[in-house]
Amino acid sequence: MGQLIVCGQKPLFGDVNINGAKNAAVAIIPAAVCAGGLCRIENLPHIEDVVCLVEAMEHIGADVRFIDDHTLELDTSAVAEHRALHDSLKKIRASYYLAGALLGRFKKAEVHLPGGCNFGSRPIDLHVKGFEMLGAEVSIEHGVIKASADRLTGARIYLDTASVGATINIMLAAVYAEGETIIENAAKEPHVVDTAGFLNTMGANIKGAGTDVIRVRGVQRMRGAEYTIIPDQIEAGTYMIAGAITGGRVTVRNIIPKHMESLVAKLKEMRCAIDEGDDFITVSRGEPLIGANIKTTTYPGFPTDLQPQTTALLSIAEGDSILTEDVWENRFQYIDEIRKFGADITVKGRVAVIRGRQDLTGAQVAATDLRAGVAMVIAGLAAKGETVIDEVKYIDRGYENIEQKLAALGADIRRLD
Ligand code: EPZ
Repeated sequence: MGQLIVCGQKPLFGDVNINGAKNAAVAIIPAAVCAGGLCRIENLPHIEDVVCLVEAMEHIGADVRFIDDHTLELDTSAVAEHRALHDSLKKIRASYYLAGALLGRFKKAEVHLPGGCNFGSRPIDLHVKGFEMLGAEVSIEHGVIKASADRLTGARIYLDTASVGATINIMLAAVYAEGETIIENAAKEPHVVDTAGFLNTMGANIKGAGTDVIRVRGVQRMRGAEYTIIPDQIEAGTYMIAGAITGGRVTVRNIIPKHMESLVAKLKEMRCAIDEGDDFITVSRGEPLIGANIKTTTYPGFPTDLQPQTTALLSIAEGDSILTEDVWENRFQYIDEIRKFGADITVKGRVAVIRGRQDLTGAQVAATDLRAGVAMVIAGLAAKGETVIDEVKYIDRGYENIEQKLAALGADIRRLD
């Protein structure tokens, strides 16, 4: 369904506005359930994952109104149902946040197990462990996660892995729990901080988000609130890499440069020039890129969600690069696709060795997941000749108007539906 056609080797020049963060939006929309009131969410990205979640919110009884493409009013006072079983939830990963939010508010939840990007096993055992430690009984039956509790009480919960989803889900479930919940080895990603910020604006009492110990003191009552979502660090990084691979000069605007530190460090190592202001970064490249060794990890380390885009970039850098994927077990599934451009890459387990070469050549490829899909676009921008990317639906899940934004920077790109 849907193709993008890219004619490559056109340097990108200009400014691009970055939308609100997908991974904050998909947590903040379900989090509104906790308020049981009217919320206004601004800087919401207009992407498929948000559309799916909004449909699911309507299905559970929320009164939902788009004021414009990026502003949503969401009244969750009429939500009386702890079951979220709408089909749209099967498509997205973040459906599991409704489990935490409904459990927190109603002490009961039944939600379809998450779908989302397919790059191997994506367990939710830490979410389940967190709910259980708060006092819930949890089971998984017929693809549905069921959780219920007579009362939820604060607990000290150590996460074996600093999971973004488990950290957010435990915060959601704990906002009304009696006493204090302490999440140790919590994820520190900006979207964790943003979700905690939204919950606090609605009256929750959460401290320490952004560090590895988060304390949630249960409150009696929460209320609706207005909130503006942070900019998307992964969308920003994607356009920075697109600028670098084409040898142009791209400025990403409306961003938080602090969130981009790990990428900026690596782009500099690869010989890109970086100019940074309060809310923008400009990437340009005069000289040829050189390879770099990169390991993805949790924030503030190099994000796994920029790994496929970075593979495309390293494919045209001089020399050998080693890219180690330390977050997901199986996130190199797209490598066969990127090899179709002529990229010289060997993968063993979690390590890819990329031998840079001057020229990629256009190819017919498929987006196998969201970030892998956008990596194909990036490779296509650098490649000689025409690239056709199938399965664009994956890219639409996380990038708003990608072809319009790239075309405005000078790319030769069009969509065939
Ligand atoms: C979030 O996924 C993001 N998705 C992912 O972005 C991102 O790749 C990931 O965090 C890491 O930054 C959303 O926010 C919707 P995790 P999440 O729980 O929360 C292991 C994108 O492209 N783990 O932090 O599902 C897991 O196997 C998407 O935008 C357990 O073992 O990721 C992985 O190795 C893709 N048990 C590691 O933790 C659990 O219960 C990190 O996963 C949960 C996770």
